[in-house]
Amino acid sequence: MTSTILERSDRTTFWLTRNVLWRLRKPRYIVLLGGPGAGKGTLAKLLMEVLGIAHLSTGDVFRYEISNNTELGLKAKAYIDAGKLVPDSITFAMLKRELTRWKYRNGAILDGIPRTLVQAKMLDHLLDAWGVGVESAVLLDPDEETLIYRLSNRLTCSNKSCGRTYHLVSKPPQVPGICDVCKNPLYQRKDDVPEVISERLSTYRTESKPVCEHYGRGLIVLKPTKETTEKTVLSEVITALRARRRL
Ligand code: AP5
Repeated sequence: MTSTILERSDRTTFWLTRNVLWRLRKPRYIVLLGGPGAGKGTLAKLLMEVLGIAHLSTGDVFRYEISNNTELGLKAKAYIDAGKLVPDSITFAMLKRELTRWKYRNGAILDGIPRTLVQAKMLDHLLDAWGVGVESAVLLDPDEETLIYRLSNRLTCSNKSCGRTYHLVSKPPQVPGICDVCKNPLYQRKDDVPEVISERLSTYRTESKPVCEHYGRGLIVLKPTKETTEKTVLSEVITALRARRRL
């Protein structure tokens, strides 16, 4: 009963968002593409502060659902633990549910989706039905050696509303094992171990090409190296996004 009332109020809020708010100001949807460890989450958190658009990481949503033992979490767990993609139908139902939340009324920085051509087409279709669309797609494309170096040294904040990441060598926390910002413990993700990293990379190699081709010449491509700082990546992306909006 309570959940029906909540679902109804969510639907009403989304109806108002589409029919009132979006007439005044169109939402912005920016897609971040890149292999595991490419820096999508890091960039998304920085972009969110600059652009004022919420960050939606499909990986974070799945991990949250898994830690709460929800039906969705139970369905996704085996795929994620093995470094495989969660099936498109499950992923897309979750995405649609998330995007209608009030948090995403100004749009979303999409981190981790689309990962397959089917998802890219489903996303276009969904946004098109809402009268909006993807504004820009950004590909972060470091070489594989950099990806492995980053993932095998990554620590993530256990506080879901923080979720900051650290790197044991290039960006260590001030106090070992503790998040600098919210002071919660850091942990190593279960999928950041060598066997799963190599499976994730192999999945990415297979699926990513058609997704990049889908965005064609409009795709903003950056090739960060081990030396490229987060600030450099952010400023290059902001410059490219601004240039696109002026076209
Ligand atoms: P997800 O959580 O999306 O993992 P991922 O795509 O593999 O990406 P990561 O979160 O590992 O890396 P990132 O690019 O965000 O890098 P980060 O910024 O942390 O997905 C996990 C799983 O969920 C998938 O394997 C799949 O099973 C499932 N899933 C999710 N979405 C799905 C979908 N759409 N369809 C089906 N299944 C789905 O950076 C990494 C490290 O590098 C950090 O330590 C950071 O500090 C450092 N770093 C980042 N940028 C820089 C920089 N510029 N300079 C120096 N260090 C940097």
